[in-house]
Amino acid sequence: MTELHLWLRHEDRPTERRTPIVPSDARRLVESGGTLTVEESPQRIFPIEEYEAVGARVAPTGSWVAAPPAAVVLGLKELPDAPAELTHRHIFFGHAYKQQPGAADLLRRFAAGGGALLDLEYLVDDHGRRLAAFGYWAGYLGAALAVLQHRGRLVAPLTPTSKEELDETLRPAAGDEEFTALVIGALGRSGRGAHVALRAAGLDPTCWDLEETRDLDRAALLAHDAMVNCVLATTPVPPFLRETDLDDPARRLRTLCDVTCDVGSPLNVLQVYDRTTEWDEPVRRLRKEPPLDLIAIDNLPSLLPKESSEGFSGQLLPLLLDFGTGGPWGRCLDRFRAACRELGIVEGESRHV
Ligand SMILES: NC(=O)c1ccc[n+]([C@@H]2O[C@H](COP(=O)([O-])OP(=O)(O)OC[C@H]3O[C@@H](n4cnc5c(N)ncnc54)[C@H](O)[C@@H]3O)[C@@H](O)[C@H]2O)c1
Repeated sequence: MTELHLWLRHEDRPTERRTPIVPSDARRLVESGGTLTVEESPQRIFPIEEYEAVGARVAPTGSWVAAPPAAVVLGLKELPDAPAELTHRHIFFGHAYKQQPGAADLLRRFAAGGGALLDLEYLVDDHGRRLAAFGYWAGYLGAALAVLQHRGRLVAPLTPTSKEELDETLRPAAGDEEFTALVIGALGRSGRGAHVALRAAGLDPTCWDLEETRDLDRAALLAHDAMVNCVLATTPVPPFLRETDLDDPARRLRTLCDVTCDVGSPLNVLQVYDRTTEWDEPVRRLRKEPPLDLIAIDNLPSLLPKESSEGFSGQLLPLLLDFGTGGPWGRCLDRFRAACRELGIVEGESRHV
């Protein structure tokens, strides 16, 4: 990345401890000849000293607004509301291309400043497959929380932890009853994570993916004690669960974890709830007798900030080392332009064409 000046910003959201680049990968970026500036950030899971030790420059929190114009600002989640005009190229999850609340405003800020959004969700290979994602740890966490709830050991509020600590709580204890678990979307990133966590909990989960849901056997689904949904739905399919299924007298299902969290979307395959659950109240009881508990948390990887940052950073590093105007980054820029056009937003004099 010889020409690249990458500026790793502080995350504005106070609970966000993850980072897209960890110190060991920061070392590789610096060694490749590029410039890396890292903002001080009190909550980042890796202390600033670890970045400094590998040759990164240190800058105050939020100083990206005055970064050199050619610097590319790297983060994960939303930008603060100011400044009104965004002049840099920014790499982060913008959540701005599906008419989400605030999406048009964000794109207008880029258009006004001549900057550009390189959205991590749209960093894809030639076949449209995502190149950097947090799915594995989302699935791992989702399945782990389902196990803990099923065994009556889930402690709220949830707080960020480490894999070591989490695995300690997952180990089956004397007196734990055996139960059956189902992972749907098992061949994907989060499905694989869910599978590994369930194995760590001493379970042997049933695994379904597209093949097994084509002709959905709801009775077989309801015959499992716990279910972890990890599908990435791209076209509408018949829902896996409907309200009426919850009142099926044959239902064994007691614990449901929706990693996908497509609630409110026409693609939602679990049409049995209307809002996600949160860290302070991770579980909602959908039925009293027999009980059915739902966990539907949409920021699961933040609960394992170190491991999920390491995993993500490892996927992002080769792409940053190859940063340029073509390939995946070119596709990202094209997607940004298309989104602006779709909204009738005229791009300002972008310096980054
Ligand atoms: N809750 C969170 O914190 C969190 C975090 C990251 C990702 N996610 C979400 O998790 C979902 C999965 O992400 P991923 O990275 O694992 O995606 P992925 O593309 O790696 O895997 C998705 C899997 O679902 C399967 N699938 C799709 N439709 C299916 C169907 N009808 N029946 C059975 N299987 C089906 C696919 O074949 C694939 O194997 C996405 O919706 C993503 O947004 C949630």
